Amino acid sequence: MSGRAARAVRLDDRRPGRGDILADAVRGLAAEPKRLPSKYFYDARGSGLFERICEQPEYYPTRTELAIMREHVGDIAAALGPDVRLVEYGSGSGLKTRMLLRNLESPVAYVPVEISRTAVSASVARLGSLFPRIQMLPVCADFTTPIALPRAARAPRQTVVYFPGSTLGNFGPDEALRLLRQMRSEARQGGGVLDGGVLIGIDLVKDRAALEAAYNDAAGVTAAFTLNLLVRLNREIGADFDPAGFRHSAHWHPLAGRIETHIVSRREQDVHIEDRTFHFTRGEAMLVEYSCKYTLEGFARLAARAELRVAKVWTDPARQFSVQWLVAA
Ligand code: TRP
Repeated sequence: MSGRAARAVRLDDRRPGRGDILADAVRGLAAEPKRLPSKYFYDARGSGLFERICEQPEYYPTRTELAIMREHVGDIAAALGPDVRLVEYGSGSGLKTRMLLRNLESPVAYVPVEISRTAVSASVARLGSLFPRIQMLPVCADFTTPIALPRAARAPRQTVVYFPGSTLGNFGPDEALRLLRQMRSEARQGGGVLDGGVLIGIDLVKDRAALEAAYNDAAGVTAAFTLNLLVRLNREIGADFDPAGFRHSAHWHPLAGRIETHIVSRREQDVHIEDRTFHFTRGEAMLVEYSCKYTLEGFARLAARAELRVAKVWTDPARQFSVQWLVAA
């Protein structure tokens, strides 16, 4: 065996099971108006489609956040300091994480918390071989439920929670606030000698045309991604959605400051799950996702309510997207 071989990585698997998915789907479909939980987008096919959304010309967030990281990663790493235990919520493909880990001074451990087992396994396999000295502690779980995360073998100076991709925008105001508080307490109790912080990617409010194009790409990848949720529910909980009987719809709501993504029934129809029947009228819309966008001031106010202070903000020249460093207020 080579001396550079990555240490053995055991995946801590706490994925939601069939019972959770069934209960969430039935609760959402019984609600008025109907909704489906977006966290179930990310099965193996959904995670693959999401990677392709990120490559679409209209989907500016990923590209812009990467450009910000490329331009400022030295500064960002300096703000975080040495010997960091890096916890990441929703690890995805790990491209931005790789840049961060490469630039941090002697990071201690990487703890990705990711609901897609395929995504988290692939990510730590890649990162583990690139960074053999950083302890890989992957957790397959829904990061919205507070769980005790693994501690690092070497004591960190501080824990930093990394939450890129503007994923916080996928939660409504109450849940976003709760998540920020959860990240703050993870950063403070992660076994470091200092209180840590939160490094977060936040998408910014901009004109309607650019926002709506990003969620309605011409190639139809986003539509395939949202409708894949129905395919998944058919496979995993035995629902009988006809995916061709539904369409994707995404619109900007300026007062709420968010893109709302719906799955719309193309006709009157019934859908069955176990012994339950859910009726859809023609044109009935099921809410599947919010993508909230913030102004810099609006986000600072939200962070303050979670007792976090915006210590530093990095943006692109067109101010489309931001990467922000939050510390305990
Ligand atoms: N976090 C991403 C976002 O809101 C996820 C996403 C991209 C998404 N396109 C989507 C979620 C379409 C639902 C529907 O930008």
